[in-house]
Amino acid sequence: MRTVTELPELRAAIDGWRNARERIAFVPTMGNLHEGHLHLVRRARELAQHVVVSIFVNPTQFGPGEDYESYPRTFEQDAEKLAAENVDLLFAPSVELMYPHGAEQAVRIDIPDVSQGLCGDFRPGHFAGVATVVARLFNLVQPHVAVFGEKDYQQLAVIRRLVRDLYWPIEIEGVPTVREADGLAMSSRNRYLSATERRLAPTLYQTLCHVAAQMRLHEQAPEQLEQEAFQALQEAGFTPDYVSIRDADTLRPVGKDASNCVVLAAVRLGKARLIDNVRV
Ligand code: PAJ
Repeated sequence: MRTVTELPELRAAIDGWRNARERIAFVPTMGNLHEGHLHLVRRARELAQHVVVSIFVNPTQFGPGEDYESYPRTFEQDAEKLAAENVDLLFAPSVELMYPHGAEQAVRIDIPDVSQGLCGDFRPGHFAGVATVVARLFNLVQPHVAVFGEKDYQQLAVIRRLVRDLYWPIEIEGVPTVREADGLAMSSRNRYLSATERRLAPTLYQTLCHVAAQMRLHEQAPEQLEQEAFQALQEAGFTPDYVSIRDADTLRPVGKDASNCVVLAAVRLGKARLIDNVRV
């Protein structure tokens, strides 16, 4: 595996592969890699001859008071894990390379509709930051296919919208959420949980599974199920931001007869903010 931090080296590798008409699969990450990220890498390996992974903790997607400074940075261990997965190229740019005129002056990509509501309401500017950095990374890496996790369901919808709206010839591949044995979705932020909070955390997934099962019965109004789940999470000890049942493709609200939907939630637990979702 080659680790590249500068543009000329990146361009040389990408141009070589593209000129040889070889497919490139790309997995963007912020590092602190866990088994969830590695599933994405393995899927990428199946989809193309060459796999590029990026590690970049993107300042523009963190709001004021969020964990940009303290976000876990574990580059050496990450690089070892990626080498073991047979990754061809690890791209690890500096903030100066990604934002040469400073993050404030960057050309920004704002994606209406799918960026609004859900996490968009609680993390203003977050999805614009994600779209802005992913657009830059796509232009640099020029992948044929890019792989994202369904764990960040709204993010995946934003990226799908980005490539469709800008006519980019990039396939977007979604990978199901990888979970711990007790159901908790793997996340770099789980390390913020105390031992007691960690024991409570899987209740989030169980609650969403329960809502999805109720939704399949088509008996109760989605608003009622959302409210009950919100209250149940509160009583269990979480501080929920939202519990919401949405259309799986458009992320718009649904009625009780809907079948192609997804139950999404974000909760705060101690220092962590956990997100999860379950398809109906
Ligand atoms: P990060 O949180 O590092 O996640 C990188 C990718 O791994 C995302 O596509 C995310 O959905 C996926 N992922 C994380 N945990 C997962 C799990 N338990 N199961 C399956 N996939 C999982 O998401 C980002 O970084 C950033 O926003 C990024 C897209 C890199 C832009 O900065």
